[in-house]
Parts: sequence; structure tokens; C-alpha cells
Amino acid sequence: MILVTGGAGFIGANFVLDWLRSCDEPVLTLDALTYAGNRENLASLKDDPRHIFVQGDICDRELIDRLLVEHPPRAIVHFAAESHVDRSIHGPGEFIRTNVNGTFTLLEAARAYWTGLSGAAREGFRFHHVSTDEVYGSLGPNDPAFTETKTYEPNSPYSASKAASDHLVRAWHHTYGLPVTTSNCSNNYGPYHFPEKLIPLIIANALAGKPLPVYGDGMQVRDWLYVTDHCSAIRAILDKGVPGEVYNVGGWNEKPNIEIVNTLCALLDELKPDPAGSYSRLITFVTDRPGHDRRYAIDARKIERELGWRPAETFETGIRKTVEWYLANQDWVANVLSGAYREWVETNYAQR
Ligand code: NAD
Ligand code: TYD
Repeated sequence: MILVTGGAGFIGANFVLDWLRSCDEPVLTLDALTYAGNRENLASLKDDPRHIFVQGDICDRELIDRLLVEHPPRAIVHFAAESHVDRSIHGPGEFIRTNVNGTFTLLEAARAYWTGLSGAAREGFRFHHVSTDEVYGSLGPNDPAFTETKTYEPNSPYSASKAASDHLVRAWHHTYGLPVTTSNCSNNYGPYHFPEKLIPLIIANALAGKPLPVYGDGMQVRDWLYVTDHCSAIRAILDKGVPGEVYNVGGWNEKPNIEIVNTLCALLDELKPDPAGSYSRLITFVTDRPGHDRRYAIDARKIERELGWRPAETFETGIRKTVEWYLANQDWVANVLSGAYREWVETNYAQR
């Protein structure tokens, strides 16, 4: 079986669902169910004997040691993290705890477990660390896209904590020989994306007739990848990746934020027209994010060349699927818009 941390979050849940759609190898999901984790994301697996869910913290060494004995995995896929830049600006402490201390705890537990393995089990074991392109910093308009050898220049508490975790993962390979792989991926979008991130927030606000907040001039560029393409990249790395190697994952889809927002408005105008007029009337430019990175772009040639991975979705197909999913799953959205969510919206947007 495989152990997936953070499997009740956005990408983790897509990964677990995708995994069990494409094979029968069991999955143990470990997730603390923070505000971002949602058991409903995995509701379709409720009676599936191939899936075990454990609510727990990656900082809890005793728990992880016990799980590794009770459910010995052939691989650990590590998604669990605090993942939202804006939240890291308002409260960085939790990012250091989970992303740095949590990754450290998991690495130590994995090292003890792997050291106790022998033969093919030891040879085949993998620790895959899921990271982000944000560790590389911000690009100018004409800079080349990030390759795996780009210097680390994290600018937000979130990206700094992820950079620290990447360094720990690297060192555990170099020093102890732990068979790790790391992926640094660009911005994901798709089903189960928590509506505090740009794309699901714009869809949710538009449908509620609320302002669509665009930070600064809206010309910051992100490189968007449909979430199931990220999942297939991780599967390719688990299958064929070389221990100690880093793979950048991206969709070759650089877009300024304002274009994303305009595209979402146009799709909603088509799929769920508002009698009051185009959703674009709700676009509102608001105060910029402090230290806002201007541009991210991923050079994904290494993973294509060495592992034969390429994204299956274009931006056009992926964004349409995403809007359709949100329109068809308004109950899911309503359930996550809890009191805690409303408090966050107040914290992040009231002063902008
Ligand atoms: P998310 O915030 O939606 O989910 C994170 C999950 O981790 C949640 O289910 C949460 O409950 C769980 N978690 C948090 N702290 C925990 C802890 N201490 N112990 C156990 N579980 C804990 O995040 P996401 O967008 O799905 O991102 C998953 C991973 O992918 C993260 O490591 C993130 O850095 C990375 N990543 C995300 C993106 C993106 O665009 N979202 C892009 C590249 C990389
Ligand atoms: P986000 O989804 O938070 O991802 P990240 O910061 O990790 O790239 O934001 C994507 C882009 O959208 C980023 O440049 C910030 C911008 N943004 C807005 O303009 N308005 C918003 O309300 C949010 C949440 C983000």
C-alpha cells in the first residue's frame, strides 16, 4: 500500500481518488483535517476496502511510527502542508510547524522505517515530497522559466517554509540515503479546490453576486495545471523517478490573473447567465498582496524527457471542466463556506 499525507486536501484528495480509479493498490490517508482538509472530498471511498482514513498530525511521531508498523507502505506521498500564501502572511507560525517540523518528523519516521526494511522492500521504497514552484522566487517578464537548477529565492512565509522542507528532503537523501524524490509544481486548479484560492473564490463570489477581488493590477502571472495532470506526474515519478532527483511539473500555461478572472466570467456567462448582466461587472481591483511575486513559470522539459510525462488537459479544457464541476457541486461549496471561512474572508479582504 501507499501512505498519503494531506489526502483530504485539494490535490491530495484528487490524487487518492485518481489512484484508486487507476489501480487496486490500497491507500492509507493521514490528514489532520485542518480548515483545508475535508472528509467529504473522499466521501466516494467511504465503503471502499482499499482505503483507510486516519485523522492525525504529521508532527505526531508516535502516531506515524505506529501507522508504519500497522500498514507498512511501499511509498509515502507527502502532500500535507499549510498551503495558502495569504494565510502565511497573517499567521506564519503554523506554516513553520507543519511544513518544516512536520516534514522533519515524517522524514525521521520514514528513515527509521526504511532502515528496518530489507531486500526488495528496501530497494523499492520511495518518499515522494510534493512541493511548489514558489520556492524559486519571482521571475521578470523575459526571464527563462524555472528549471530544477534555479536558485531558491522564496519570498513569502509559505514559500520559505516549503523551501526549508525541500532542503530537509534533499539532505535526508544525501546524508542517510533515504530514497526520496521531489516535485515542484505550478499552480493547480480543478475539483475540490478550497474557495479561498483565486479560481474557486472567483467562481463562488460570482455565483453569490459578490465582488471579484483582483490584487494590484491583476498582471501577476501564474502557470496553471489541471490537478489530475499533477496527479499523473506524481504517479510517473513514483514509477520511474530516480531517487535524489527533483522534477518540475507545469502545464505550459502562463496567464495573468486578470485573464483568468475574465475567462471565468465568460464561462459563467455562458453556463449560468446572470439576468443582472455579465459577471465581469463584479471585477474589483483591491490592494495588492505584500511581497506579491510577479511571475512564476515552469520549464517541464526534464520530466517529459526522462519520464515521458505531459499534461493531458489544455487550459481551455481544464478550466471548463472546473467551472462545470463547481456548478454541479454547489452543495460541496456551501458546506465548506463555514463560520471559519467567513472569518478568513473578513481578515483578508475587509481592509483591502
Ligand atoms: P490544501 O491546503 O488544500 O491541503 C492540505 C491538506 O493537508 C489538508 O487536507 C490539511 O488538513 C492537511 N494538513 C495540514 N496540516 C497538517 C498536519 N499538520 N498534519 C496532517 N495533515 C495536515 O493544499 P493543496 O493545495 O492540496 O496542496 C497540497 C500540497 O501540494 C502542499 O504540500 C502544497 O505545498 C503543494 N502544492 C500545491 C499547489 C497548489 O496550487 N495548490 C501547487 C504546487 C504544490
Ligand atoms: P492563489 O490562488 O492564492 O495562489 P498563489 O498565491 O499560491 O499563486 O493566488 C493566485 C494569484 O491570484 C496570485 O497572484 C494572487 C491572486 N489573487 C487575487 O488577485 N485575488 C484573490 O482574491 C486571491 C485569493 C488571489
